[in-house]
Amino acid sequence: MANSKYIHGFSKSEQKRLIAQAHLLESKVYEGLDYSGRHKLLEVGCGVGAQTKILCRRFPHLSIHSVDLSEVQLHAAAQYLKSEIKKGQVRLSQQDAMALKLDDAGTYDSAFICWFFEHVPDPLKVLKNIKKQLSPGARIYCSEVFNQTLYLEPYAPAFQEYWAEFNDLQTRMNGDPFVGAKLGNLLHKAGYKNIQLEVRDYLYDSRNPKARATYVEYFHQILLSGQDVLLREGRVTKSLIQKMKAETKILKSAKDAIFFYAYIRATATVD
Ligand SMILES: C[S@@+](CC[C@H](N)C(=O)[O-])C[C@H]1O[C@@H](n2cnc3c(N)ncnc32)[C@H](O)[C@@H]1O
Repeated sequence: MANSKYIHGFSKSEQKRLIAQAHLLESKVYEGLDYSGRHKLLEVGCGVGAQTKILCRRFPHLSIHSVDLSEVQLHAAAQYLKSEIKKGQVRLSQQDAMALKLDDAGTYDSAFICWFFEHVPDPLKVLKNIKKQLSPGARIYCSEVFNQTLYLEPYAPAFQEYWAEFNDLQTRMNGDPFVGAKLGNLLHKAGYKNIQLEVRDYLYDSRNPKARATYVEYFHQILLSGQDVLLREGRVTKSLIQKMKAETKILKSAKDAIFFYAYIRATATVD
């Protein structure tokens, strides 16, 4: 039975990975995000503040309250967002989204959630909790994983076996690596309105070998972020990891290699 609750862990390398990830995916994650006319934003599951810094740069008019359960992540976020906090642009708080309680509940006119719902045992409860913090007319944006969509060419059995173990372990740790596809149902059940879902995809092939290698390596790093817990739980062996690494090299340089992955962006409002 898995005993750790967070598959990526809280190491320094994982904290750096979150910042690199936010930059790599920024153009797609922020495409079409509209916070004009909004003033007060709630970010849930802010981690080390990787997205918070981008939000501050892109939407300097917003007053942002970012919350996370982990003291370690919040400590890193406080360092990373020093100047934004000093300017009064951002406030950080330790909160469990499963029992979210803010003293200014009902006053947020916008919310931002990114790569977060996969880690909570009850996303519906969290969406209801977030709704209680929002004011009438507020808009929420969620970008969430849909790990079933990963496709790699040439066939990479060790990579896929490791990925299947990663996703299965996350599921057994009460997370949901496929939550992106469920966002429509979840938002609907939680009582949100004007729900829109978009499938946002990355498809890289021989037309763009540099980007293809970058995204293969990016995914390789995601897989490695779970290796300590996967090894501890006996889900993968050192030999499988070596094979997965060897396949990664091939995927990054093979002539007709393909990388494909899709995530889901949901937008909704509150009555
Ligand atoms: C993958 S990180 C994403 C961080 C950030 N949104 C980003 O894109 O860089 C997920 C974060 O969710 C936080 N988290 C997990 N369960 C939580 C909960 N119940 N309440 C609040 N935060 C939680 C973790 O501590 C972690 O920092």
